[in-house]
Amino acid sequence: MMNSRIKFDLLIHDLKGPLAVMESGVVSLLRREEKYGPLTESQKKVLKRVLRNIKVTQTLVNDALELGRSSEGIIHKEKILVSKLVNEALIELFDLMSCDKTDALKECRDVKEVKKLLSQEGIILDMDEGLWNKELVIDKRKINQILRNLLSNALKYRKKEVLIQIKENDKHLILSVQDDGEGIPPSYHENIFKCYFQMDQGKEYCVRGHGIGLAGVMILVEDMGGELTLESDVGKGAKFSVKLPLEKG
Ligand SMILES: Nc1ncnc2c1ncn2[C@@H]1O[C@H](COP(=O)(O)OP(=O)(O)OP(=O)(O)O)[C@@H](O)[C@H]1O
Ligand SMILES: [Mg+2]
Repeated sequence: MMNSRIKFDLLIHDLKGPLAVMESGVVSLLRREEKYGPLTESQKKVLKRVLRNIKVTQTLVNDALELGRSSEGIIHKEKILVSKLVNEALIELFDLMSCDKTDALKECRDVKEVKKLLSQEGIILDMDEGLWNKELVIDKRKINQILRNLLSNALKYRKKEVLIQIKENDKHLILSVQDDGEGIPPSYHENIFKCYFQMDQGKEYCVRGHGIGLAGVMILVEDMGGELTLESDVGKGAKFSVKLPLEKG
């Protein structure tokens, strides 16, 4: 591993310490009112939101370290319900967007309820119930990270809607995320997956971001032996599809 890479990983790794202190502080305030004094409902609400965002940051720290390990060829496969996989990715995404539907999402009992809730946010989930209730052997953290990145882009660039499709055939899991935004001209399709590349860099206004997301997604997909493809043209939105090989589980 390159020296600079290790330095970078160590820096990210060391963020874990202060984050753990923040987490336990907020948890104490919430759980031990007899010691720290009573909280009003609105104070509790604020602290819970802080706690959720500390957890999201912890996830991001783990993701950053995961990327490093991924390029060293380390994969963690586990058996997981597709419903759990999708729900966890959506919950993290909602927390990052500060969407107030996180709690409602956690309470959904089946795919119908999830679809209904998402549609209120302009997100259409297309997958069948059979797959929703199925168990697959996959690297959950990597897929989570892939979905979160593609979805946050789609939500950033959409006009109105985002379509998430999840399908399976005997050998592959296919995830696609499509939006109805301005789209990406074909001449950019290659560069878009390169690190730090942003199409709208030159414009006076700048959409917040670093041009790292898609490059990271590409690394993760390749490390899992999958394929990442883009279908898009000017004014026609963008559709990113991930095809991952499945093992018999
Ligand atoms: N769904 C999309 N529609 C249109 N353009 C997109 C879409 N997704 C990505 N892009 C373009 O690709 C560029 C790179 O995307 P990428 O996710 O790598 O970086 P980013 O979103 O700008 O920043 P971040 O590192 O925070 O993800 C974006 O800046 C944008 O120009
Ligand atoms: Mg992005």
